[in-house]
Amino acid sequence: MALVEVRDLVKNFILGDEIVRAVDGVSLSIDKGEYVAIMGASGSGKSTFMNMIGCLDVPTSGEVRIDDIATSEMDSDALAELRNQKIGFVFQQFNLLARTTALDNVAVPLIYAGLNTADRRDKAKAKLEEMGLGDRLDHSPAKLSGGQQQRVAIARALVTEPLILLADEPTGALDTKTSEDIMQIFESLNDAGITIIVVTHEEDIAQHAHRNIHFRDGKVIEDKPVIDRRSTKDDR
Ligand SMILES: Nc1ncnc2c1ncn2[C@@H]1O[C@H](COP(=O)(O)OP(=O)(O)OP(=O)(O)O)[C@@H](O)[C@H]1O
Ligand SMILES: [Mg+2]
Repeated sequence: MALVEVRDLVKNFILGDEIVRAVDGVSLSIDKGEYVAIMGASGSGKSTFMNMIGCLDVPTSGEVRIDDIATSEMDSDALAELRNQKIGFVFQQFNLLARTTALDNVAVPLIYAGLNTADRRDKAKAKLEEMGLGDRLDHSPAKLSGGQQQRVAIARALVTEPLILLADEPTGALDTKTSEDIMQIFESLNDAGITIIVVTHEEDIAQHAHRNIHFRDGKVIEDKPVIDRRSTKDDR
């Protein structure tokens, strides 16, 4: 069964008297356990597409089903709940709360999930430890490196144990070495069964995924498995 299923998805933005067709009729499905990279030039509709899959934005028309649940009839509260239960997000600029410790940043999604303070702190601490940040719990984002901030953001995305991790240019603000570290984390998360969808401009990053979907002008122009993945790695 498909975990993410989109049918005839369209998103138009109105700018003055011009209509921008940001996503222009996309149909595809992504199964549980897949690791997908979404590629394409700037403005091709990648983020708009991700935001609709992640129920952060509503389509102009067409359908998004998450874990066999149709989202089109849901109100914003129901969408927020679905998001909280099933989806974790990671962004290029980390989007952490600035004057808040790593621990409290990671605990935020658990407020919405309805856990008490002690349970929230326990779970947030465990996730940060998994990300190798057990000694940085009380640091604010400004006192962490970019890679550490992104690992806090990944811990926050995962603390609710979502089925799907959506990452929009997660390595866009990181150097090559740190980007590789983040890719290693994604790989082990995917090995553990999490479905990952990552938007990237970088071919290297896309090669870590198992399937590459290419956007142009709001449409999917290519959707193919990543072949020779292991052998490319061994050749390095
Ligand atoms: N809120 C908005 N209002 C108006 N137009 C928008 C809005 N968001 C996106 N667009 C337009 O929709 C198109 C697709 O934008 P989108 O952000 O999805 O592209 P992208 O592929 O993520 O690009 P990038 O690689 O630069 O992040 C662009 O033409 C963009 O200008
Ligand atoms: Mg984008």
